[in-house]
Amino acid sequence: MVKTLIQLGGNVISLIGVVLVTTAGVLWLFLLPSYWNPHFGSTYIGILQYLALPAVFFAGLMLMPAGVWIHNFRRRRAGQRGPELPRGNELRRLATFFLVTSVLNVIIGSHVVYGAVTYMDSVQFCGESCHTVMQPEYTSYQYSPHARVECVECHIGPGASWFVKSKISGSGQVLAVTFHTYPTPIPTPVASLRPARETCEQCHWPSRFSGDLFFVRTHYGDDEKNTATYTVGLMKVGGLARGGIMGIHGLHAASKGHIEYIATDDKRQVIPRVIYTDPNGKVTVFNSTDAPATEAALQTGEHRTMDCIDCHNRPTHVFQLPEQGLDQAMSNGQISQQLPFVKKEAVLALKGAQGDRDTAAAGIATKLENYYHSTYPQVEQSQAAALKSAIKAVQTIYLRNVFPAMKVTWGTYPNNIGHMDFPGCFRCHDGNHASASGETIPNDCSTCHDMLAVDESNPKILTDLGVTQPPPNATGGLVN
Ligand code: HEC
Ligand code: HEC
Ligand code: HEC
Ligand code: HEC
Ligand code: HEC
Repeated sequence: MVKTLIQLGGNVISLIGVVLVTTAGVLWLFLLPSYWNPHFGSTYIGILQYLALPAVFFAGLMLMPAGVWIHNFRRRRAGQRGPELPRGNELRRLATFFLVTSVLNVIIGSHVVYGAVTYMDSVQFCGESCHTVMQPEYTSYQYSPHARVECVECHIGPGASWFVKSKISGSGQVLAVTFHTYPTPIPTPVASLRPARETCEQCHWPSRFSGDLFFVRTHYGDDEKNTATYTVGLMKVGGLARGGIMGIHGLHAASKGHIEYIATDDKRQVIPRVIYTDPNGKVTVFNSTDAPATEAALQTGEHRTMDCIDCHNRPTHVFQLPEQGLDQAMSNGQISQQLPFVKKEAVLALKGAQGDRDTAAAGIATKLENYYHSTYPQVEQSQAAALKSAIKAVQTIYLRNVFPAMKVTWGTYPNNIGHMDFPGCFRCHDGNHASASGETIPNDCSTCHDMLAVDESNPKILTDLGVTQPPPNATGGLVN
């Protein structure tokens, strides 16, 4: 048998194949225990184990028969006869040998393929392997309410066809990263994002009745005392209730009706036309009256049916503005309110930071240290520890939100929930989207929320409710 094997495989190409398969096989055996570890090791070991190892293994498997075929082809062309075919016992032993090795190869092969596929769907592969490119999204993700939800749950979702689509577009992305042809920043909205129905709604039941959600938000002033003010209200999230659809989710997410719109810019921020089909099928067309678009612009604009993402476009990649980041860090005590003018100075330091991330972080520290050194030397002495942790918190806000290598800075990615910092709901609810019969998309403040206090330093409603310590501001939405 050995003789036949040597004859069959007695060529350089097949020998290389045998060496590759054996090496990959031994390596696989060696790494076998780590396949059961749900947390992949370091990214580079992961790439080696889940991508390079299968590649070597299958390359080897293909080289073996290819070598034999090429070798025989050459011999025939040179007029030589092929090798003597084995007979009798020899043939039986050879067949058993091939059967056993094939079964082994199928086991190893399917296992490494399974490993590779699972690995490519892991948060680590998506978030860390192209470190610079994904750094903004991966960083914001880690701070978000979805930090335990895998990237693929929102970006790919269940089912084979999206899996294949994602692997095809993924290959393009790998090439773009290799040759540095990727766009900076990564453009948003994601053009081929799967409909929210098939991703978000796997976990969130859209018609669930949330009712009115109570919220308290703390803001700090730019005065010496960093005076805190509170905004308190009820957000009318609604949903499907006994009385029918109610509130924000009621009409937008739980209703049988639907809303289509045309956006004339690529970030979906300019919406000159909205087409509303109510639950009974009645269609109303609203056109912007203060910024009407030409028919040609409407034709070429993006036509889209509204879903979760049109409001919740930052459920996970939440990028803050300096003021928001500071209000949050101050409300949860990372930055002491006792440091005079800390809000104002930190905003200036964050907005003025220059250079790459390390330089900018160092610059923020220098700027704040210099400020307290020259203006409040006694504070620098008496509150040294508080100042130190405040500086660290301000640096963290910068590092969470600004990524010069990807050209991501304050406000690069608009957030569509709300209307204070970006157009958001007011892209349509601005009171200037009217139908032919003069109805408008409602703009009344109480359509969406009942404000119980707006920026008050001592709101009566909180005293009445006995809330002495308002909850810290949350990372994601307004409700906490
Ligand atoms: C809870 C769902 C969710 C999870 C989990 C999630 N994303 Fe996203 N991602 C989104 C949404 C929604 C958008 C924006 C879609 C839009 O505006 O079209 C987005 C956008 C992006 C973008 C485009 C740039 C941008 O910021 O708009 C990238 C890149 C991205 N995500 C990468 C990732 C990576 C990497 C992970 C895992 C570490 C991840 N995402 C996890 C929902 C999610
Ligand atoms: C795999 C399940 C899963 C998927 C898919 C998912 N979510 Fe979530 N989502 C959660 C969980 C769990 C929470 C609660 C997190 C917590 O309270 O800590 C949550 C919380 C939220 C919240 C409340 C955030 C806050 O600030 O408290 C919003 C809004 C939300 N999700 C929107 C979305 C949207 C939009 C999508 C689709 C792009 C989506 N989710 C996809 C599981 C999921
Ligand atoms: C693409 C346009 C568009 C955007 C963006 C949009 N809406 Fe709407 N919204 C509509 C239309 C159209 C209606 C139906 C108006 C009508 O009843 O005639 C509506 C209705 C509503 C209603 C029900 C009003 C009522 O009379 O009961 C609420 C509440 C609401 N929207 C909240 C929001 C919130 C909150 C946001 C932002 C997070 C938002 N909408 C963003 C188009 C939009
Ligand atoms: C179409 C719905 C809608 C309408 C109409 C609307 N708002 Fe809002 N508003 C929102 C949403 C949603 C948020 C929450 C944004 C967030 O989560 O940060 C918000 C947030 C706010 C906040 C910020 C709270 C804070 O401290 O961060 C203020 C203030 C506010 N609205 C005032 C108004 C006023 C005044 C009007 C009337 C002119 C109005 N809103 C009309 C939906 C609406
Ligand atoms: C018209 C805009 C709009 C649409 C469309 C929309 N939402 Fe919301 N959603 C809101 C607002 C506003 C809030 C209140 C929280 C805030 O201000 O951040 C909210 C709150 C939530 C919450 C947290 C509230 C709770 O029940 O605890 C979840 C989860 C959520 N939305 C999921 C979804 C999902 C899933 C979809 C798609 C089926 C969706 N939303 C569609 C505007 C919208």
